[in-house]
Amino acid sequence: MPAMEYQKRTTTCGALRKADAGQTVVLNGWVHRKRDHGGISFVNLRDRYGITQVVIDDDAVPELKDLAAELKFEYCLSVRGVVRARPDSMVNKDMPTGEIEVKAESVQILSRCETLPFMVDEKSDAKEELRLKYRYLDLRSFAMQRKIALRHEVAFAVREYLGGQGFFEIETPTFIKSTPEGARDYLVPSRLYPGKFYALPQSPQLYKQILMVSGMDKYFQLARCYRDEDARGDRQPEFTQIDIEMSFVKRDDVLELIEGLFGHVFKKTLNVELPEKFRRISFDDSMEFYGTDKPDLRFHMEMQSIDELAQKSAFQALKDALAAGGAVKALVAPGKADYSRKQIEELEAAAKIFRAKGMAWMKVSSEGKLEGGASKFFNGEGAAPGLEAELLAALGAKNGDLILLVADPKRKVACQSLGAVRSKLGKDLGLCDPDKFEFAWIVDFPMFEWNEDESKWEAAHHMFTMPQERYHATLESDPGPVKGDLYDLVLNGFELASGSIRIHDPELQKRIFSIVGIDPKEAEAKFGFLTEAFKYGPPPHGGIAPGLDRLVMLMAGETSIKEVIAFPKNSFAVNPMDDCPSDVDQKQLDDLHIQIVKKAD
Ligand code: AMO
Repeated sequence: MPAMEYQKRTTTCGALRKADAGQTVVLNGWVHRKRDHGGISFVNLRDRYGITQVVIDDDAVPELKDLAAELKFEYCLSVRGVVRARPDSMVNKDMPTGEIEVKAESVQILSRCETLPFMVDEKSDAKEELRLKYRYLDLRSFAMQRKIALRHEVAFAVREYLGGQGFFEIETPTFIKSTPEGARDYLVPSRLYPGKFYALPQSPQLYKQILMVSGMDKYFQLARCYRDEDARGDRQPEFTQIDIEMSFVKRDDVLELIEGLFGHVFKKTLNVELPEKFRRISFDDSMEFYGTDKPDLRFHMEMQSIDELAQKSAFQALKDALAAGGAVKALVAPGKADYSRKQIEELEAAAKIFRAKGMAWMKVSSEGKLEGGASKFFNGEGAAPGLEAELLAALGAKNGDLILLVADPKRKVACQSLGAVRSKLGKDLGLCDPDKFEFAWIVDFPMFEWNEDESKWEAAHHMFTMPQERYHATLESDPGPVKGDLYDLVLNGFELASGSIRIHDPELQKRIFSIVGIDPKEAEAKFGFLTEAFKYGPPPHGGIAPGLDRLVMLMAGETSIKEVIAFPKNSFAVNPMDDCPSDVDQKQLDDLHIQIVKKAD
């Protein structure tokens, strides 16, 4: 049987206008909607480019009318017909093709469609699991196609900009040596070497550094990364980074490159002008004012420290926290004195997630007096005279405002807990304008973090980050205060990118390994190839990696990266469409010398 001949389109479903009236055209596309009025059928034919109304008129030949009767949602058609202008009263202003329709002369069914699990619609109300199972249908909607198009345009603009700046796009392997990088590795068993494994890269970190040793000078890659970590709205087991590394640069060179890159990408794709420079906030300030290293700066509402004023109050819990070396943080929710006890309790619940023992509150009355909650400790017995006015002035609190306080013996707990309240308030009060893009660099991160459970220092970013020079003499004696030459880019409350200036001095690298408890033997086994390469004239270098998925998610106004990935995994790391991960044949396992041992429950 010869393959069915079909009439190829002469134009798309989004192209025809009034000026095309009288032309004979062929359209290929899907039945988006169908209506029958008396003897006339209207079919909205859809493709990636738009929708065109096709009419099977009353005077159509009987075969055509029979065929029209058979058409159902998402049948794939080829339609030949004549373009005609719609009468003025029938013009659909909401559709770019709304001035015309195509009077069908012949219709060919190219393929049929079974009963749909959900409608292909601008706004799908189907459950996410169903959307992922039938992702090909979900992707047919204009809403999804716009996001996929945006992703394409962003990737294209990235290549355009970096190519123009002299960067080489270089692919690095996706089968690599397993090296510790924070998350668990996905492993690939080797058939040829029983018991040995490749790892899928968590990022191309070591390879891009080696490319600098290779003299490549400026590298980038839209790199696929794989991390076996718990899924969240902004995390997937596999994702894409705009991975960048540069030689002979200092921190500001990297920051400026990224400012230029994002300026280009936002202008090209969304026609949004970004500021030439993004504000810079030290990690310490970010924690103090926003209680997080990824603040949402679309709204201000900064937290303040009121340690001194708390000392003058009669509030023993605050004084105890201070005596233990902690902090008292305050936040003013403007105009929210009308918050109910329940609403305040919900805010307190957000604080408790970050281990706050509680959250105190007071309201500023219409007479400018503190009232309710903890107010008596600031204007009642035992409080220093004039403390109420002093506190209101220090906080800039006005009549009708709600004041929230968290004290804790651990400064970090007080900051993070009230920071979580700030974030919740921002969302609850509708302060997170989806059309605003507030970028900021978070700089001067601590180099090391203390792991309480294992009682040891760990690298806050990764072990190849350069400690800032002023700390080089005290690395071992006092690791806590050491700041690294590392930076994050945050956008609207999300960490968009991380990067650092790297160590290129093998001796310094050895010192860092030793501080984080990696002995020379282990370092040799895990990173020997990198330290070996660094014996051959490594250049000073640094880089960064913005997450492409998170970037496009925020540009598209979404809150889950699944919305901008064609075939994402669900929250259980499963793809409901092909149902991976899945069983494999015994033969495949035998080839790989793998035996599955089920753990006893
Ligand atoms: P880091 O681990 O901070 O740094 O990752 C950089 C950026 O990648 C994105 N990202 C993710 N996106 C989706 N799902 C995930 N599971 C996920 N994990 C990370 C984020 C993040 O900011 N090699 C270093 C970069 C460098 O130093 O140059 C690195 O990978 O947007």
